[in-house]
Amino acid sequence: MKNIAILCSGGDVSGMNAALKRFVEYTLAKGLRPYFVYNGFEGLIDNEIVEAGYGDVSGIITRGGTKIRSARSQRFHEKHYRQKAIENLLSHHIHAVVVLGGDGSFKGMKRLSEESDIAFSGIPATIDNDIAGTEYALGVDTALNVIKYAIDAVRDTAASFSRAFVIETMGRECGYLALVSALTSGAEMCLIPELPYDLEHYKRRFLREKEEGRTYFIAVVSEALDNTEMIRQWFETEIGMEARTTILGHIQRGGNPTVHDRMMAFHFVTQAIDGLLGGKKESVVCYRDGGFDYLPIDDVAFRTYRLPESLLRLGKEFNTLSRV
Ligand code: F6P
Repeated sequence: MKNIAILCSGGDVSGMNAALKRFVEYTLAKGLRPYFVYNGFEGLIDNEIVEAGYGDVSGIITRGGTKIRSARSQRFHEKHYRQKAIENLLSHHIHAVVVLGGDGSFKGMKRLSEESDIAFSGIPATIDNDIAGTEYALGVDTALNVIKYAIDAVRDTAASFSRAFVIETMGRECGYLALVSALTSGAEMCLIPELPYDLEHYKRRFLREKEEGRTYFIAVVSEALDNTEMIRQWFETEIGMEARTTILGHIQRGGNPTVHDRMMAFHFVTQAIDGLLGGKKESVVCYRDGGFDYLPIDDVAFRTYRLPESLLRLGKEFNTLSRV
């Protein structure tokens, strides 16, 4: 293996640029020739494959997003486009590819590896943190910090104006971002798809707290529930408090990557390249129990992620909290 490529696929995350920097520096140190694939799997099909060097990665570690861009490719589902992608890689004598992305990206990677001799190593990268087999996906910490900053700021105005705020986080079908954010920002309510909730219970609690002098509430809800506006109205009609919504949206995907994401980018890439050099043909680098491990794509991309029990327990407290 001499030539090796990297691509970013699916939703971009902060930390991808740090990963690109490590990729170039570590491959060169190992005597390999690094290539960037621009635009994810789309770029594989369109042969946007370019040799990379130190100059391409200088000054990018501080920037969110990904210098080589990302995409969600529909064409990649069709075999003849995947064939084109394989031909393009081979035309550059590339026999190993590192893929940063989520489940969908790893499924695409598996297909390519089944249809060729090219080796693939996946790095979990999604703010949703919804990938089975790994406790951490690149970008999550930065997203959580963006959310923390936003909720802290909303709290200032909520408290000044005696209002309830319903803050919607991303996460697709997964409540990880909402739950961790609610816990770490001192929210009064957290609604996620993984946990049942009873609005009557919340109502009894909030009315009592209001009577005792509480003047504002912060609720964090996961986008998966699609009930942000409904909860805002509930605060007005059932709790009798003026309410607003804040939909955080794509700001959660950007921003200056945290120290944790820069370090994780460093480790993930190092492990991915070491795995490829060690002969692993199709694996995903996973972080668990404080260390890194390689899992077959099937054990990652075709399994459902479950929130850790310890987190779920804390989440249940939100929905059942009552004073004796
Ligand atoms: O998977 C990352 C993510 O940001 C989800 O949290 C969100 O639901 C989705 O992507 C948004 O997708 P798009 O960028 O296509 O609007």
